[in-house]
Amino acid sequence: MSEPITPQAWWPEASRDWSADERQLLAQLDPGRLPAHVAIIMDGNGRWARQRGYLDRIRGHEAGIDSVREATRTCAQLRLQVLTLYAFSKENWRRPKAEIAALMELLRRFLIAERDELMDNNIRLLAIGSLDDLPNGARAALDETMRLTANNTGMKLVLSLSYGGRDELVRAARKLVAQHPDPAQINEAAIDAVLDTAGLPDPDLLVRTRGEMRVTNFLLWQIAYAVIFVTPVLWPDFRRRQLLEALADYQRRERRYGGVGQSTAPRG
Ligand code: FPP
Repeated sequence: MSEPITPQAWWPEASRDWSADERQLLAQLDPGRLPAHVAIIMDGNGRWARQRGYLDRIRGHEAGIDSVREATRTCAQLRLQVLTLYAFSKENWRRPKAEIAALMELLRRFLIAERDELMDNNIRLLAIGSLDDLPNGARAALDETMRLTANNTGMKLVLSLSYGGRDELVRAARKLVAQHPDPAQINEAAIDAVLDTAGLPDPDLLVRTRGEMRVTNFLLWQIAYAVIFVTPVLWPDFRRRQLLEALADYQRRERRYGGVGQSTAPRG
């Protein structure tokens, strides 16, 4: 069991450098009912760049890094357990070579530049997806940052890299068959245990920016009971304020899990 939450002890500290607006939004939240795991589909970098007349979409991805940093810091300050970001999908390999190369370089630089920030905030970095697809530079930076942060005990930041929900399920099925020759042994817990997200709680809240009402192959098994929050805001414009609004929306909704009234998730 987790320890009882005593918000009075940490909320003023968490929001010390926030604006008055943001503090007001925070005050509307119930600290005892925050999601344990927030997952975000970061969409709209390309449109953001186009809206500003930039010819290069990478300008949008670069701007998106600031949103990644602010979302990560805020979720850690709020003491969420897990923040998962859809940083690069299996399908993203179909983008122009130059954009892929720029994104991988951005990822490599991010993984090195953010080490102090992750350590200062006691955040542990994890990654899910077909990580062997990554170019050597990005992979080495990822492995090193995961190693450096491995003993951090606060929030887990999970980057989804070369990730696809169906790809994850195929890889999981192969492991299942190898581990369980008897199909009767296979149950939900056995499937959980062979997913990339093994050991993590399922997302309670899935956020998507840029307004598309889709889940695009993200955490297909794990979002079974997640509340979904879609905002038209483009990812580079997504700031603490929008994150707090998503959390407020989450708390307004009652999750029934097929039962009656408020209850807890039927598993994990
Ligand atoms: C979608 O925008 C976003 C991506 C494909 C990648 C997201 C990457 C970042 C935010 C930067 C790198 C992240 C990390 C963690 C280093 P889009 O290009 O599909 O936008 P559009 O839908 O407007 O075209």
